[in-house]
Amino acid sequence: MRTSAIIVAAGSGRRLGAGQPKAFVSLGGRTLLARSLATVAALRELFEVVITVPPGMETEARAEARRAGMTIPVKITAGGIERQDSVRIALSLTSAESDLVVIHDAARPFASPALFERCIEAAARCGGAIAAIPVADTLKRVEKNMIEATLPRAGLYQAQTPQAFRRRLLIDAHERARAAGITATDDADLVERLGQRVEIVEAAALNLKITTRSDLQIAEAIAATLEKQETP
Ligand code: CTP
Ligand code: MG
Repeated sequence: MRTSAIIVAAGSGRRLGAGQPKAFVSLGGRTLLARSLATVAALRELFEVVITVPPGMETEARAEARRAGMTIPVKITAGGIERQDSVRIALSLTSAESDLVVIHDAARPFASPALFERCIEAAARCGGAIAAIPVADTLKRVEKNMIEATLPRAGLYQAQTPQAFRRRLLIDAHERARAAGITATDDADLVERLGQRVEIVEAAALNLKITTRSDLQIAEAIAATLEKQETP
């Protein structure tokens, strides 16, 4: 099955507050976008890559793709206002010849090629599959700093990316969401709303998302450790 990859990197990184768009922040000498591009470049049999970036960052992203040694077509576009808008724009640029689309947040620099491949394989089988990890902490519902309830965590997962879907299904899901004025924080939610089943691909906590300054500090420590392992 033909697969297109989408890397969403058009966010401003407001919560990180790095003074530049988050995907272009350096982590151990490489930008977050460069790290996701390297992972995608290592995938077998990928058809093309579409990258969303903040308006004006297209040239920068093109240079990153060149440095990553991408040998497949790379399409770069300005993203939209919300993540969902960026995915919709990128999706509209994917080739109609693609059967599957795998979406990844540039904010997750440590996703492995193997994790991408497991999501793609599962989506080819059942239509949709996402990386996720079981919730490990006890969950509290809080109102005005006071606990209202303790939620049973059994069966609860934290959704990550990559997320892979049949292309047609994801386009339908986005069209339906737009018509109904629904905004979601991940693509699986939109597909679930169509009544379609989405499978979980168990991932690792290492596939963390960089949102805040402290996430970046944790990621810097991880990047330094990985670097040491790679260069003995
Ligand atoms: N994203 C995007 N287009 C947007 C918003 C987000 O392509 N309009 C991308 C981000 O670049 C990121 C991913 O979606 O890779 C997840 O978003 P998030 O972690 O929220 O990143 P930002 O929106 O950049 O951060 P913040 O919400 O703190 O501004
Ligand atoms: Mg955001």
